[in-house]
Amino acid sequence: MTVRVPAKVNLQLAVGPMREDGYHELATVFHAVDLHDEVIVRQAAAGTGVALTISGEGADSLPTDSSNLAAKAVRMLAVHAGIDPDVTVHLAKGIPVAGGMAGGSADAAGALVACDVLWQLGLSRDELGYFAAQLGSDVPFSLHGGTCIGTGRGEQLMPVLGRGHFHWVFALANGGLSTPAVYAECDRLREGTDVPDPRISEELMQGLRSGDAHRLGRALSNDLQAAAISLRPSLARVLAVGEDFGALGGIVSGSGPTCAFLVRDAEDALDLAVALSGEDVCRTVKVAEGPAHGARVVG
Ligand code: C5P
Repeated sequence: MTVRVPAKVNLQLAVGPMREDGYHELATVFHAVDLHDEVIVRQAAAGTGVALTISGEGADSLPTDSSNLAAKAVRMLAVHAGIDPDVTVHLAKGIPVAGGMAGGSADAAGALVACDVLWQLGLSRDELGYFAAQLGSDVPFSLHGGTCIGTGRGEQLMPVLGRGHFHWVFALANGGLSTPAVYAECDRLREGTDVPDPRISEELMQGLRSGDAHRLGRALSNDLQAAAISLRPSLARVLAVGEDFGALGGIVSGSGPTCAFLVRDAEDALDLAVALSGEDVCRTVKVAEGPAHGARVVG
């Protein structure tokens, strides 16, 4: 069973005050792009448990034991179904690792979909979404794909009926940033200030509804950006290069350190990718389009 799952970028990430449970109240716009992980799940002999392998860039830095979110997803569904999870799980990474593009969440979402089909559980998308939300704030969106408003801690989704297709360039950094560390830095930077409740930008929604990339580019925003730059000052230079070379908008993706640039078309995407590579400000560059489908079976 092979499931393909997209990466995400947050077109807006408005971070409210910290809640009592330690999470932050969010108003965010998730957008899936066509950089994918593949999750391949096969039935194994009885008593073998969950055996996880990972390939692709950055695979060495990821855990293959029970702490991997995909392994947790498999076990969660097995407990629900009352069966022994004797499977091999292979993660073929195409999404930057620890890059703020929800790669780990994608793997968990893919594992849920694959096991549902493999074990013939017949769960609805809502039921899978329930499990996804237990696994992590971004996992429900990895299942859903497209473009969605996320509220709560990001797990409550509402699809956005937008128009058109958008072209993106992603500048990948060396090494990751820890999401909890970036949220903690955001809290530190805002200490003593009155943090308003997070709200979705009307300008951004207009950009999406009209399919106007210029408008959307101007409205991109990320409240975690200052924190990501504080922890990784070199990101400011990456963003400046994107702006200099004509991106319609540029932001740190999620908690970073990947930087996302919106451009006009496929040709501009290639030009910016070449420029970013030439300036030597990032490890590698990827070009992608969105919105992309959520987790789905491809074989
Ligand atoms: O939900 P998930 O496990 O992906 O979250 C990872 C970490 O990111 C949390 O432990 C928390 O530190 C931070 N986070 C947060 N507020 C959110 C989402 C995540 O503070 N809404």
